[in-house]
Amino acid sequence: MTENILISIAWPYANAEIHVGNITGSHLPGDIIARYHRLKGRNVAMVSGTDSHGTPVTLRAESEGLTNEEVYKRFHDGFLELFQGMGITYDMFTTTHTENHFNVSQSIFLALKENGHLYTKKSMQWYSPNAKRFLPDRYVEGTCYICGTEGARSDQCDACGNVLEPAKLIDPKAKTGDGSLELRETEHFYLDLSKLEPTVANFLRERSGHMRDTVLGESLGKIEAEGLLPRPITRDLDWGIPVPVEGWDGKCLYVWFEAVIGYLSSPIEMSKVIGQPDAWKAWWTQEARQFYFIGKDNIFFHTSLWPAQLMGAGDKFPPIFSEMSGLPKAEPQKLTLPHDVPANQFMNLEGKKISGSRNWAVYGRDALSRYDADALRYYLTVNMPESKDSDWDWAEFVAHNNNELVANWGNLANRVLSFCYKHWEGKIPAVDVETLRPKDLELLAIIDAGFGSVGDLLEAVKIRGALNEAMRLATEVNKYLDTSAPWKELKVDRDEAAKSVYTALRAIDSLKTIFAPFLPFTSEALNKTFAHETPLFGEQFVETIEDALGTHTALRYKGVDGEQWKASELKPSAAFNQPSPLFKKLDKEVVEEERARLG
Ligand code: MF3
Ligand code: ZN
Repeated sequence: MTENILISIAWPYANAEIHVGNITGSHLPGDIIARYHRLKGRNVAMVSGTDSHGTPVTLRAESEGLTNEEVYKRFHDGFLELFQGMGITYDMFTTTHTENHFNVSQSIFLALKENGHLYTKKSMQWYSPNAKRFLPDRYVEGTCYICGTEGARSDQCDACGNVLEPAKLIDPKAKTGDGSLELRETEHFYLDLSKLEPTVANFLRERSGHMRDTVLGESLGKIEAEGLLPRPITRDLDWGIPVPVEGWDGKCLYVWFEAVIGYLSSPIEMSKVIGQPDAWKAWWTQEARQFYFIGKDNIFFHTSLWPAQLMGAGDKFPPIFSEMSGLPKAEPQKLTLPHDVPANQFMNLEGKKISGSRNWAVYGRDALSRYDADALRYYLTVNMPESKDSDWDWAEFVAHNNNELVANWGNLANRVLSFCYKHWEGKIPAVDVETLRPKDLELLAIIDAGFGSVGDLLEAVKIRGALNEAMRLATEVNKYLDTSAPWKELKVDRDEAAKSVYTALRAIDSLKTIFAPFLPFTSEALNKTFAHETPLFGEQFVETIEDALGTHTALRYKGVDGEQWKASELKPSAAFNQPSPLFKKLDKEVVEEERARLG
């Protein structure tokens, strides 16, 4: 039976461009793991979308004098362009502003309500008499009453990572020109996380074999230190998903509460789009390995809040959803829980924290206008902040590109292919594989074993280690060529040279598959050079979808069937295409040029 794999990636807020830190933090690791599992022939869905609601978006819209819709669509379009350029192959990258997501989110809310996990409570919130409205979350900033840092948002302090009670904020100020503030009473729905705490703690402990220590430690540590506290899951805001309860007009579901539900709604929307309305169940009501690629600031929401929502909804979700969306009645079924949450640390830039407002950032789309996707992907992978913060350094970017990507792998492939193309008239040498020498078989055995060693590391989401291992294999081929030296053999004995060239090409053909999850564009190009019939990967495309909320676009992916994660069986005598260099060497001047753009 093919295994179901869900690759879930944090939904980017529609209020900022995606930079290299975001790419290496979540989108790229998710894509690498998704591509690996696809090559293994598994049933993969890689999903996410634009996080279009909440105060991050409304504040941005107000400051630009645009509508919320205009703002989210502008950033969304930019995201789609970036992912296509970078080869981030979402099966479904949609947005939270869809009829489907509204329905699924409201159904989860109602399922939690029916199961007794929600209650309402009155509390004091900041209100602007001038603007005649409540100012939730990011609208109000002040000094954190826990750690004393200034500029804390009223709902959350980024400095100490604590969730804040707005009314306790010291020296609160409205971010907008809404003048003085006063506290007024309002009512909200709360998710009673304290009741779900033992279930969440058990869920986490059961994953201690494979979840990263950084993630598990933080999640369980929080529970042991302060327990899971009830959280308000509605807001006084009119941009978002309406609370599906009578008399709650003008209030919305809290942006975090509904955004995580996107991991469920996105596959459901995809199922509708492909005309297989039940397809989502493979990842959500059947056995599936679900991976969540996020940054460390999002850990709580994915290891505690989201599992609590899923377990709290229990088996009520599919029935309520089918009722709300007019689908045939669904049987009660529990929802599948996350398998792993491989949260990454942060990537800094030239020694400083990445910051859009201080122009201390390298944006993905901008970088793609000057560099190839695989060159960027390579550096973002060797430098991925898997276990500790890392740093994007332009000199390092050039060095890794030139000394490893070009020198070790790119030149290897190009050198051997070009040599063969020239001396064997564009054909793989016609050797009898039975006559390969011990040294040839030895190299092929080393490379074949790479499918296991690199594969095991990718199964465990050890991405840096996996790429390192792939590079080590390329080094082995280079060593083999140094000793076999077919360019010398050719002058003495053409048959011997043919064996060396055949062996090296077969190793390279295998390596292009092993490198494919990391460097998909150049691996696909090599695959074409070898004139293989089946491409390694499928196609990305943009789909336009109409629903009750209007029109939106989604990035989609159409894959290739079958298992390809296996050693090359390169056919002697087969014709191949004229090779061209895979990567470009970068000029040292690039470093100063790029540094001058910062700040
Ligand atoms: N929009 C959030 C951020 O950019 C991430 C949301 S992840 C989700 O930090 F799953 F909740 F959508
Ligand atoms: Zn604080």
